[in-house]
Amino acid sequence: MHLVTSDQLTEKDITYLFNNIGSIKQYNKFGDNVKYGNKVLINVFYEYSTRTSLSFECAMNKLGGKVITFNKEFSSIHKGETFEDTIRTIMCYGDIMVIRHPEKGMVNKIAEISTIPIINGGDGNNEHPSQSLLDLYSIYKKYDSDFVNKTILFVGDILNSRTIHSLIKLINLYPSMKIFFLPFDNLHPSEEMIKNIKNIHNQSGNIILNMSNINYNEIDIVYCTRLQKERNTNDNILLNENIIINNEFANKLKEDAIIMHPLPRNKELDIDLDNNHRAYYFEQIKLGVDIRMSIIDYCINN
Ligand code: CP
Repeated sequence: MHLVTSDQLTEKDITYLFNNIGSIKQYNKFGDNVKYGNKVLINVFYEYSTRTSLSFECAMNKLGGKVITFNKEFSSIHKGETFEDTIRTIMCYGDIMVIRHPEKGMVNKIAEISTIPIINGGDGNNEHPSQSLLDLYSIYKKYDSDFVNKTILFVGDILNSRTIHSLIKLINLYPSMKIFFLPFDNLHPSEEMIKNIKNIHNQSGNIILNMSNINYNEIDIVYCTRLQKERNTNDNILLNENIIINNEFANKLKEDAIIMHPLPRNKELDIDLDNNHRAYYFEQIKLGVDIRMSIIDYCINN
């Protein structure tokens, strides 16, 4: 099966994917990872990536499979080959493909014609479902089954963050969680998203906050994102210098609160925070390999 959008996932799928990590690790412990010995994962990134590409590569290696990487810069695109012919060609060389593309909906189009499972590694400002599974898994690892009672504050470029869009779809499967936003100027969530969240999570008040009306005792998870400069063509959109998650901000939160970020970061997440016990983003990165092993296994076998 493909993984194109978080909309595909049910609570049952998520539980399976989380529990499957334990089974895979147990299986690998005996060095018996021949199950994927003949399988090839193809990484196809039309946009830059560090974490998504490398963690899928690492995950497939740990499963005992092999990885090949499409290099756009040295491909026959430069001899006039169409996108469709390029993708149809790449599909012939492997058993599962991870693809990132700057255009919203493009990964879905590829999945419609694909003969092998497609994993969306991020399509424009739309979705990044494997990141959302990693994010929810990180929250679950911190709070165990009590994660369903936690409150999350999304910070930054809400409008263009595909990781936030995909994560909200998963959080919406757990109505007892609560959602608030601390957005950069002009980068607010859509009215439709706000209405939907209020309905699902039974939140009646204002869920859009500013730096002066945050109830720090209410927040368990701060999920920070950078300004997506590559998606904002409007020169008037600038990083809000007053919205920076630093030690001063973090130390007002509960002792067991966590600060997450999909990374890469810019100025919105202060490097001084890295030694704060609430900083959780490097732990989040590590968990990316485990969940992606589970995702590859799930997509190949379903
Ligand atoms: N979180 C994430 O998608 O990072 P990369 O852009 O480095 O893959």
